[in-house]
Amino acid sequence: MASDLLDVRGVTCRFGGLVALDNVSLKVVQGEIVGLIGPNGAGKTTLFNVIAGAVRPSAGEIILDGGDIAGLPPHQRSRRGLARTFQITQPFINMTVEENIMVGALRFGGSLAAMRRRVEPILEAVGLKDRRSILAKGLSTGQRKRLELGRALATEPRLLLMDEVTGGVDQPSIPGLLELVLSLRAAGRTIVLIEHNMRVMRGLADRLIFLNRGSLLAEGPPDAVVTDPRVIDIYLGSSDVADR
Ligand SMILES: Nc1ncnc2c1ncn2[C@@H]1O[C@H](COP(=O)(O)OP(=O)(O)OP(=O)(O)O)[C@@H](O)[C@H]1O
Ligand SMILES: [Mg+2]
Repeated sequence: MASDLLDVRGVTCRFGGLVALDNVSLKVVQGEIVGLIGPNGAGKTTLFNVIAGAVRPSAGEIILDGGDIAGLPPHQRSRRGLARTFQITQPFINMTVEENIMVGALRFGGSLAAMRRRVEPILEAVGLKDRRSILAKGLSTGQRKRLELGRALATEPRLLLMDEVTGGVDQPSIPGLLELVLSLRAAGRTIVLIEHNMRVMRGLADRLIFLNRGSLLAEGPPDAVVTDPRVIDIYLGSSDVADR
């Protein structure tokens, strides 16, 4: 039977008078790709921040693989198998591609040679093998997104939160990124994806969750959610949704 890897229970997040998340509950099953959609400012990134431990919620519980992680700092959540990529990529720009990915693997320790062996398959998986020795600041946006993924993968996550992985990426690079996400799932990762490109989302997600103004308004199979009149009215009719 499928089991819940992530169980978010009644999460509310306030910033001063703004309610960025309002009593949000959702579950992610082991092996799923779940798509998180909603207009700008809906609270999608805030939800990732709360799950990853970057932002403390005003209320609610975060259960990862049966254990409550809400009180843990980000690095301990990482040890429990959680990784995330950022909407705005944050590489160490004066370090090489390979060194950036090594940072993700630091907690496993070992010699430099052992560390190199560990990051080798990741460089391969994210398609940056031939860029390993260049500084991160020399990468294109698409390559930075791949590096971001590589850094997250180096922590060997079970659950990967990916924030707008195709955002700002040139069109020709997008199919490769999609294949990469599908290969990660095939390798046993569970993925929650934020994405405004609906064609991308429909090609990847097993299930969609629609957030609006901090509230979860719809969830279900992609075809059902994208034809939900409220989702169309609030989101899919707007100009920030690409390629629907
Ligand atoms: N650290 C913070 N302090 C104050 N307000 C914040 C903070 N983080 C987010 N917000 C606000 O919370 C709301 C939700 O923002 P969030 O970044 O989660 O939206 P989003 O759904 O990711 O939007 P986008 O699609 O534009 O990335 C917004 O009104 C935002 O301005
Ligand atoms: Mg966001």
